[in-house]
Amino acid sequence: MPPPLSNLARLECPTCHKTYEASAPRNVCDCGRPLFARYDLGGVTRESLLPRRDLWRYLPVLPISSEDHALTLGEGGTPLLHCPAIEKTYGVSRVFVKDEAANPTGTFKARGMAVAVSRAKELGLTRLAVPSAGNAGSALAAYAAKAGIESLVVAPKDTPLSILQETVLFGARLFLVDGTITQAGDIVKAACKETGHFNVATMYEPYRVEGKKTMGYELFEQLGGLPDWVVFPTGGGTGVVGLWKAFQELKELGWHDGPLPKIAFVQAKGCAPIVKAFKDGKEGSELWKNPVTIAPGLRVPKALGDTLVLKAARESRGTGVAVEDEAMRAGVSEFARLEGIGACYEGGATLGALRQLVEGGTVKRDDTVVLFNTGTPLKNPRAPVGMKVATVESSKELVGRLEP
Ligand SMILES: Cc1ncc(COP(=O)(O)O)c(C=O)c1O
Repeated sequence: MPPPLSNLARLECPTCHKTYEASAPRNVCDCGRPLFARYDLGGVTRESLLPRRDLWRYLPVLPISSEDHALTLGEGGTPLLHCPAIEKTYGVSRVFVKDEAANPTGTFKARGMAVAVSRAKELGLTRLAVPSAGNAGSALAAYAAKAGIESLVVAPKDTPLSILQETVLFGARLFLVDGTITQAGDIVKAACKETGHFNVATMYEPYRVEGKKTMGYELFEQLGGLPDWVVFPTGGGTGVVGLWKAFQELKELGWHDGPLPKIAFVQAKGCAPIVKAFKDGKEGSELWKNPVTIAPGLRVPKALGDTLVLKAARESRGTGVAVEDEAMRAGVSEFARLEGIGACYEGGATLGALRQLVEGGTVKRDDTVVLFNTGTPLKNPRAPVGMKVATVESSKELVGRLEP
């Protein structure tokens, strides 16, 4: 049997609906907005999915022309963990965590880069660049290494050292800026014009979202349907936009005919431009001045995909929630102690959001809720709870210390 081919048809701007050939590299629409990959979904059946555990199972709805061109480090196929202790604590009947920490480079960013770099290589690109809050940069570095192409990463200088080290380990050229991802983004955009690098910044090319959307397909298969709510930490918005695209495709494919999940996107109280726009009833967000949060992935003062995040939240009848850093720390700690799940601060934010949503009566007690832990805690090793660890010199001392 020949390998299944992608059903990629064209690129389309979901805002102004202008279309483009998908056969050449392209960043954004002429209107300056992000582009989506569109497919001929007519012939796509569940039987045409590949018998694989990773995200390439969904090749018929991905932009890569054949399985041979799929660069893989084992991305996707992450566990959906049932969380009975969280259900009991929060009084919600069904809670699951989609644990994205299991991805290569430890975050869901691997999904986007696996697909974007595979497609870039297929289109003949040899030099890719990204401005990053950290995790997208190290994921690009890993997949570029696998592809045998060059990667350039520009990140804020206070990005956790472990993420920067990982980026360098995978062979990227790394530069730091005294600022946020916004300054890094301006520098990369201008530099690409001179160096010939292709810019794979968040929502500034169409294929990272395609990788992210596989979270939605997996969730549908793992749960045997779709939940009432998904709760997702949001900086640049690829996660939320990818999930919403997946849910709409599942409907278009005829695989799901019930209501679609409501999307709760979660930002940090110290950097919540899209939540503010949601509450103010605006279509786009304003640049957030002095963004401060312990979650680097949420320190995005202005996102190119803000209008699409707002659209996903509104169309799904969902909401936006801002969470204090302390609630993220508490969330990380609760995930760990109640469920044995190692969560990053961004993931911890979803539990802080769940508390607000339950207390405010937005999430109902008989709802099914899926929280997304987007990464491992090990890449940002600031202790989430006050950690007092004693040194012992003997078993006698150890046993003595264990006595109540
Ligand atoms: C661990 C983690 N979670 C969540 C996010 C936010 O994702 P997005 O920018 O797709 O909204 C990021 C982004 O860097 C991240 O690194």
